[in-house]
Amino acid sequence: NSEFLIAPSILSADFARLGEDVATVLAAGADVVHFDVMDNHYVPNLTFGPMICEALRNYGITAPIDVHLMIKPVDSLIPEFAKAGADIITFHPEASEHIDRSLALIKEQGCEAGLVLNPATPLHYLDYVMDKVDQILLMSVNPGFGGQSFIPQTLDKLRQVRERIEASGRKIRLEVDGGIKVDNIAEVAEAGADMFVAGSAIFNQPDYRTVIDAMRSELAK
Ligand code: DX5
Ligand code: ZN
Repeated sequence: NSEFLIAPSILSADFARLGEDVATVLAAGADVVHFDVMDNHYVPNLTFGPMICEALRNYGITAPIDVHLMIKPVDSLIPEFAKAGADIITFHPEASEHIDRSLALIKEQGCEAGLVLNPATPLHYLDYVMDKVDQILLMSVNPGFGGQSFIPQTLDKLRQVRERIEASGRKIRLEVDGGIKVDNIAEVAEAGADMFVAGSAIFNQPDYRTVIDAMRSELAK
């Protein structure tokens, strides 16, 4: 599968020199910028909003930006992120009052839309939206922090979602987020993921290219 996407989570980047750090990770071979938005309400941590996304665009970052909204309510910030340069916007269904409306709002704003399921969130949230999502993100940790360990039950969940995607006949990306490392990325791909978020595994190493190359060679196995 040559369509594997590696999406560094900038939650683990150096915020004091964010533009430079994001440019460095992209030059090292990353495909997509994963942008974790936390509100200290839906999740117990606080990160960054649309202004920082726009600042990355103004700095010259042209790669796709994958905005992972860990916020409640969801809808008010969707147009803001679209204006700020987001390409993909995903949200947690239990944080939205109207899932269908939130998905439609993302599409109306010209972005790709997706749902994010936490480790214990049931798959039935996907039942009536498979024709509306461009991406499904399975959390392999509980959202809120980088550097946590991959929850192994995610592998079975990935297989089930992969089956649903195949049954839908649509081209829906299956993204996984949390605890992805060089030593588990191959089995995560084998379970059906094709887009891999990695924060600490990449940014906590001095040479991003070495990590990304190692991930790609694991994916090529
Ligand atoms: C967690 C975030 C993740 C996080 C992943 O709530 O959604 O994107 O940054 O970090 P690692 O790769 O360190 O688990
Ligand atoms: Zn994330």
